[in-house]
Amino acid sequence: MVRILGIETSCDETAVGIVEDGRNILSNAVSSSLALHGPYGGVIPEIAARAHVETIWDVFAAALDEARRSPAELDAIAVTRGPGLPGALLIGLAFAKGLALALDRPLIPVDHLAAHLYAAQMAVPTLEPPYVGLVVSGGHTLLCVAHGDCRFELLGETKDDAVGEAFDKVAKLLGLGYPGGPAIDRISDEGDATKVRLPRSQTKRPFDFSFSGLKTAVYHHVEKIAGSTAVGSTAVRSTTGALSPPVEPSSRRAVEPLRALSQQEVADIAASFQETAVDILITKTLRACHRTGIKRVAVGGGVASNRRLRARFGAEGAANKLDVIFPPPPLCVDNGAMVAGIGYPLLQKGRVASLSITSDSNLCLN
Ligand code: KG4
Ligand code: ZN
Repeated sequence: MVRILGIETSCDETAVGIVEDGRNILSNAVSSSLALHGPYGGVIPEIAARAHVETIWDVFAAALDEARRSPAELDAIAVTRGPGLPGALLIGLAFAKGLALALDRPLIPVDHLAAHLYAAQMAVPTLEPPYVGLVVSGGHTLLCVAHGDCRFELLGETKDDAVGEAFDKVAKLLGLGYPGGPAIDRISDEGDATKVRLPRSQTKRPFDFSFSGLKTAVYHHVEKIAGSTAVGSTAVRSTTGALSPPVEPSSRRAVEPLRALSQQEVADIAASFQETAVDILITKTLRACHRTGIKRVAVGGGVASNRRLRARFGAEGAANKLDVIFPPPPLCVDNGAMVAGIGYPLLQKGRVASLSITSDSNLCLN
């Protein structure tokens, strides 16, 4: 039995998990700096990095506590090498190197996107490669084929916004706060998804994505019904959100006051946006299955928690005789257990690193 500790600090979650044999989760401790970023409407890299420095030791201790293990009982240290915020990645990697050195254990560098997909394999042990992988997070949206040995073949990726980023920006526009994904997920229950017709952007390559046109179409719709010219601003005053517009530190543009959107209008826009985004993701994934002849799909990343995405994939999967696997929500968002989990097959393949390894903020399925 091999017990691996996994460290994840690529964005705003400081996370440490301990997993045996790549499947059996002993602990999954997370501390998020989300609340610190809320007033800015997005993650501020320096604040995220500082929060990692301040909390990583406590999260490490909490993971050991929850697993009822001592450091000496760990067999290897896995850590997210990238992609992510450079300063944030650095903290996790430095901490992991310190542990590996002090405990004299192997250091396993992990690709964050691969770990998101591996979370599905942890949830459903019968899921074996090859499968079509869909990563939907705040920083990435991509389709790939997962082969054995933790090797991935990229089919396509977003050419502009990641889908989670689009959720967050639309939520911000609607006054739903940050992070926007869960808020849109919730309020869409009260909305009519057929109310606002939104475009599905075309991409040159069949498996690439583009979400910035969809986001801009939502801005234009709000502008039309709320009677303002403040497209791209954060000034919508909704009955569900703050009454005064938050000021974006990066763009302090003057904004005209808008009429308040009603709760129903906000819900209808949110539901229509969500339905369109989900539709785009499902259409391209089905196309990838069709093209490759692969009947298994794993979905990973924060947006994989979205209830409408899960429900629609469930229905489409059944209709098309596909197995579509979602990790449980705690394994969809950034977490240490998925890093510890994928550490196991990587260790088996000897994919360990020396202590001179550096982080790589642009890593993509390596
Ligand atoms: O994977 P993740 O935790 O971090 C990154 O690697 O980026 O994903 C965070 C993203 C955010 O954009 C957040 O709004 C989105 O996941 N998200 C959701 C939901 N829960 C989190 N988006 C839609 N519906 C949700 N329920
Ligand atoms: Zn992530």
